[in-house]
Amino acid sequence: MELRHLRYFVTVVEEQSITKAAEKLCIAQPPLSRQIQKLEEELGILLFERGSRPVRTTEAGQFFYQHAVQILTHTAQATSMAKRISSVNKIVRIGYVSSLLYALLPQIIYLFRQNNPDIEVELIECGTKDQIEALKQGKIDIGFGRLRISDPAIKRILLREEKLKLAVHKNHYLTQYIDQGIYLSQIINEPIFSYPASQKPNFSTLIQSIFTELGLVPKDMIEVREIHLALGLVSSGEGICIIPESASDIGMKNLVYIPILDVEAYSPISLSVRNMDQSNYIPSILDCIKNVFEEENMVFKPSDST
Ligand code: BEZ
Repeated sequence: MELRHLRYFVTVVEEQSITKAAEKLCIAQPPLSRQIQKLEEELGILLFERGSRPVRTTEAGQFFYQHAVQILTHTAQATSMAKRISSVNKIVRIGYVSSLLYALLPQIIYLFRQNNPDIEVELIECGTKDQIEALKQGKIDIGFGRLRISDPAIKRILLREEKLKLAVHKNHYLTQYIDQGIYLSQIINEPIFSYPASQKPNFSTLIQSIFTELGLVPKDMIEVREIHLALGLVSSGEGICIIPESASDIGMKNLVYIPILDVEAYSPISLSVRNMDQSNYIPSILDCIKNVFEEENMVFKPSDST
């Protein structure tokens, strides 16, 4: 017995007519009658009362109808769920904060693509805070961010703590600290560009909280839309800005980068996924991160964060 036989039978019962059922199923009436007859022979029971108009089921036919409907419903549900699972396995949407493009994110994604040629990767720029909602709504499957944001529905894995640097113009008087490094207490009177100007908390909030943790109040913090604007303004001699160490690779002209010596001056880089998500792409991306860290001679010690 095939599923189509059950579909023919159910349609005849519901339409109470071979003619109408044949129209609905887009097949000719004689083959439909033959298939119903074959089904009765295969089951060894009469499903319809002979000669009844409109067509009426026997008691056994009515019983069989209830179960046939259930089988068809379960099959349709199983098909649509399997399709959803297979689409999740084929497309992985990764949210990221843009500054991670200067860090190891491109290498990690490239390796993930090579290791998983069957998975389509979609990259979506998204602030760390927005990543939490996007994960819950199924708009992204993995988030790479820079903040310590907790949510009971989200599992956050701390990947590393990236050092921060001070970007100054090459002729700025602070360049004298390029070799020895500088403390944040030494820059509170300078105009400091912070970024981004997106929904808070963001990288700008992180920098503010580091100053607060150190008991410092910078006099002149100027918020700009994004890191490129901050660096461009510094390159024009307008002020200074704090960047994640990896962003010193951006290569904007006339800039030098001074190490910041305060131990509090770091930006956490973490991976977020939905709690209880058992998808295969999660261990796979962690494996890629581990390999890239090893290539870069960096220690990979991921830890679950709250
Ligand atoms: C990193 O630079 O450590 C990094 C960047 C993006 C994702 C994971 C790690």
